[in-house]
Amino acid sequence: MTHLIDQVAQLVEAKFTGLEGSHDWFHIKRVWQTALYLQSQEGGNADEISLAALLHDYSDHKYNGGDFDAGSREVLNLLNKLNCPFEIADRVAKIVQVVSYKGALVSDEATSIEGKIVRDADRLDAIGAIGIARAFSYGGSKARPLYDPSIAPLLHDSKEEYAAAKSHTINHFYEKLLLLKDRMETATARTLAEERHAFMLQFLAQFELECGMQKQ
Ligand code: NI
Repeated sequence: MTHLIDQVAQLVEAKFTGLEGSHDWFHIKRVWQTALYLQSQEGGNADEISLAALLHDYSDHKYNGGDFDAGSREVLNLLNKLNCPFEIADRVAKIVQVVSYKGALVSDEATSIEGKIVRDADRLDAIGAIGIARAFSYGGSKARPLYDPSIAPLLHDSKEEYAAAKSHTINHFYEKLLLLKDRMETATARTLAEERHAFMLQFLAQFELECGMQKQ
């Protein structure tokens, strides 16, 4: 299994190196490392967690024209090609299917402990100082304004509506990033999320202060 994980890591590194900073190889690597840390505290199958963490963004709907199922389909094909036992490939593909956030009012699909760990690890990378940097990197890649006070945040109730939303980056905090703390499913991730969440609030307060719109 170590050989398979190395092979997948190499393929993913080649595919993601040089991509825009919010979803590049460094993101994948951080999620992988965080997921293994969560596994050391929470249990779960480490091989399955490594594979799912490495492959969780393999075909992301944000980059593939909006196909929510392509990721798990392509992951299953890839793992089959690499002679991964079908049972593991199937479990990993099912995790990949449920990792992404689909809107403030859309609840997360039930998943295994391995799935919860990978989803929590991906969400931890979306908050805190790294989350702030990634949000503005992604917004920049789509030429979105940093902030436009005339556009209020929206809580989306379908994955299609969420995926189609084109707002300024500050709204992304209210539509997703500030909601992630309460959607962590493992105790270890919940604890790690506290500090990162507090840092985002501090950042937003300072941002608002500098924009001259602090509430009286
Ligand atoms: Ni990700």
